[in-house]
Amino acid sequence: MERTLAIIKPDAVERNLVGEIIKRIEAAGLRLCALRIKHLTRREAERFYEVHQERPFFKSLCDYMTSGPIVIAVLGGDNAIKRWRELMGATDPAKAAPGTIRNDFGLDVEKNASHGSDAPETAAREVAFFFSAVDLVD
Ligand code: RTP
Ligand code: MG
Repeated sequence: MERTLAIIKPDAVERNLVGEIIKRIEAAGLRLCALRIKHLTRREAERFYEVHQERPFFKSLCDYMTSGPIVIAVLGGDNAIKRWRELMGATDPAKAAPGTIRNDFGLDVEKNASHGSDAPETAAREVAFFFSAVDLVD
């Protein structure tokens, strides 16, 4: 079994899409291993996205990710990292495949409704960023 970090971003929480997105996660056969809601501080957003700190969109991304609460989940299952990214679709909702979360609910390339870890090493870092071992269900 593999674990990945999923975030329902502020634009989707604001529009009451949490239930719809979790419904898709469960329908795809991924399991919830941990779940919480949190309003990120500036410092937390900057640390979480530190790999992007030299990118032109970094400040705007941190503004957006601190603009309202997010829902953070650990998802588990075979190939969970890839399966969750497939459910989300491409970063830009306009380029994401029909039926994906970002195509259905994303507003633009930044306000794209959801986040998913992109590799096993990033998943381990991102899960540990928000959860302790005792928070995780097998
Ligand atoms: P994520 O990390 O959120 O799952 O998204 P991703 O891998 O598909 O995209 P990534 O390149 O890691 O970018 C992280 C987030 O930054 C925002 N972004 N804005 N303005 C822009 O050109 C731009 N590009 C990316 C998005 O919110 C993206 O998900
Ligand atoms: Mg990414």
